[in-house]
Amino acid sequence: MVTSYHRPTQLIIDSDAIRQNMHQVKAHCQAAEDIFAVVKANGYGHGAVPIAKIALEEGAKGCCVATIDEAIELREAGITAPILILGVVDVQYLPIISTYEFAIPLATTQWLTEAIEWYTHTPWENNIALHMAVDTGMGRIGFTTIESICDTVSRVTASEGFFIEGIFTHFSTADEADQTYTKQQNQRFEEVLASLPSRPRYIHSANSASELWQESEGNLIRYGIALYGLNPSGNTLALPYPLMPALELVSKVVQVKKVPKGSKIGYGATYEALEDEWIATIPIGYADGYIRKMQGFHVLIEGQYCEIVGRVCMDQIMVRLPHEVPLDAPVVLVGEMNKKTITLQDVATHIGTIHYEVACLFSERLPRIYK
Ligand SMILES: Cc1ncc(COP(=O)(O)O)c(C=O)c1O
Repeated sequence: MVTSYHRPTQLIIDSDAIRQNMHQVKAHCQAAEDIFAVVKANGYGHGAVPIAKIALEEGAKGCCVATIDEAIELREAGITAPILILGVVDVQYLPIISTYEFAIPLATTQWLTEAIEWYTHTPWENNIALHMAVDTGMGRIGFTTIESICDTVSRVTASEGFFIEGIFTHFSTADEADQTYTKQQNQRFEEVLASLPSRPRYIHSANSASELWQESEGNLIRYGIALYGLNPSGNTLALPYPLMPALELVSKVVQVKKVPKGSKIGYGATYEALEDEWIATIPIGYADGYIRKMQGFHVLIEGQYCEIVGRVCMDQIMVRLPHEVPLDAPVVLVGEMNKKTITLQDVATHIGTIHYEVACLFSERLPRIYK
């Protein structure tokens, strides 16, 4: 999808907010902990390369992504810092991993067997850094038994082409008030660590939520959503230190009209004007990631909340105005106008999801402008 620069609809990303959020985590984490900026999924929609660069400038020691292609994007943008891929990598791509010097997870014995075989046929130059994935209760990737972990560590040590750089786990309820399950997961992780013959360079379990609210094992923090200034729990848990949301979504009014009472608006003619009404059209739609469920939500124009009426189209929405506004009037879809706000969490609540998903939905069509 091509980015639409010749349109007033834009994501404005506040670089200072990202810097502030990095300062906050550095001020609050342990001195021995390294921060890795999680910039997968195009930096949670904020733009992977610019966010990674800012976070690294502010002291992040590396980046985490989900896929090989996301990692390559960072390297090709000149990022030489360590990059940890969080998702399982197919063994056929190990030569690429070696060339770019990415770190990857090791999650099953079968994967290791195949990887060793691959190395025998096609040896690569740089030894590949592996992070042992331990499934302590997330049920996603990783080893579940201490025996299989110890056995795998010995096999890696005896093999060429690899080394164990880290061991990690992921918590599934660190953003909830009840810490019981996280504590169980952490305890399980501690048992695994205690059984290792030696500790690798990196031990990690913390994501944003565990950094903010939990005590957990490790010397590396995989810092994702909080870097973008968002509370991992939505509105459930209070933040121990302030974060600054970095993303605004803005546009302009492209048409204003007065419609008589009874007029229908949008596909399916689902909205009917209850009286003579002012209606504005704004150039954003579901192809931008502003999905159809946004119908009934609101935007800010001239400092007032204006309801989205009728269905969200692929490229446009219509809103009801309190009065006539000029063409090109600024519109805030996420952000602040005259002390009124629309947060990503407000959007998430309206469409019944989490702000992570809302941010990731914003498509390539929206230009990301960094201020
Ligand atoms: C393994 C892993 N670590 C860290 C993160 C970052 O989590 P957060 O954005 O909640 O900080 C994620 C995000 O999904 C993840 O999957």
